[in-house]
Amino acid sequence: LQHLLTTEGLPVSILLHILDTAESFAGVTEREVKKIPLLRGKSVFNLFFESSTRTRTTFEIAAKRLSADVINLNIAVSAQSKGETLLDTVNNLSAMHADMFVVRHSQSGAAHMMASHVRPDIHVINAGDGRHAHPTQALLDMFTIRRYKKDFHNLRVAIVGDILHSRVARSQIHALTTLGVPEVRVIAPKTLLPSRVERLGVHIYHDITQGMKDIDVIIMLRLQNERMLGASLPSTEEYFKYYGLTQEKLTLAKQDAIVMHPGPMNRGVEIDSAVADGKQSVILPQVTFGIAVRMAVMSILAGN
Ligand code: CP
Repeated sequence: LQHLLTTEGLPVSILLHILDTAESFAGVTEREVKKIPLLRGKSVFNLFFESSTRTRTTFEIAAKRLSADVINLNIAVSAQSKGETLLDTVNNLSAMHADMFVVRHSQSGAAHMMASHVRPDIHVINAGDGRHAHPTQALLDMFTIRRYKKDFHNLRVAIVGDILHSRVARSQIHALTTLGVPEVRVIAPKTLLPSRVERLGVHIYHDITQGMKDIDVIIMLRLQNERMLGASLPSTEEYFKYYGLTQEKLTLAKQDAIVMHPGPMNRGVEIDSAVADGKQSVILPQVTFGIAVRMAVMSILAGN
């Protein structure tokens, strides 16, 4: 694997290899030993052209635990503001002996474009591009599901909310179907579903009370207002009434269902605090698992 740009088309063997490798690193991060030397002497450049709390920070922790040198480019004060193109920025950073770029960008395809221009010894990891893909988020979500549910082959998983603008949902759907989850549901109003979403192999529900029945894993998504480009936004009160996850709606799922959210959460819009902080929530463990999963991705790309 040279780059990680999407989960679409990744074979099941690679997905499982990443999850299994992450299991070994999850062990390391829970023990006293914090650092392992797999990326010693390598430079990882974090290029976040869009805001991030979880992804950027866990990539930095993961790279440091692998003993890499980590450079967080401060985009706000970089030469981008003087008109430098993304490719010129990347070429200049490559000249500083970059080994790996972790890139988040508002434009779908930005990571692919970088990957097709960098030297063959440099690895690009997509940390979220536009509405297109967020593969490491989907991988940490798969890791979380496997930790709590053990086996993908007998699960019903529901992804609820703004599927249309969500790079996370696309990457999750590809990973879930490849890993053999027999039933993936999307629950959303028509206006927040991509056209012909059923071609991704999902079952469509508009009514959350029906869609929640017999569900093992519920993944909530926020309304991604920043990508709605002037479309009339749903009122948050109305959205919460119909699609917000409350304890009452959660009781319609299986008793041992887990609740996930990639973050950031908008409490009182797509999820009630009682659920977000409740017994069935695994939202914070997801964040922790992100470190091990990103360690696994970086070490596999580096050839370890
Ligand atoms: N899930 C996720 O991508 O969160 P951040 O935007 O904080 O990185």
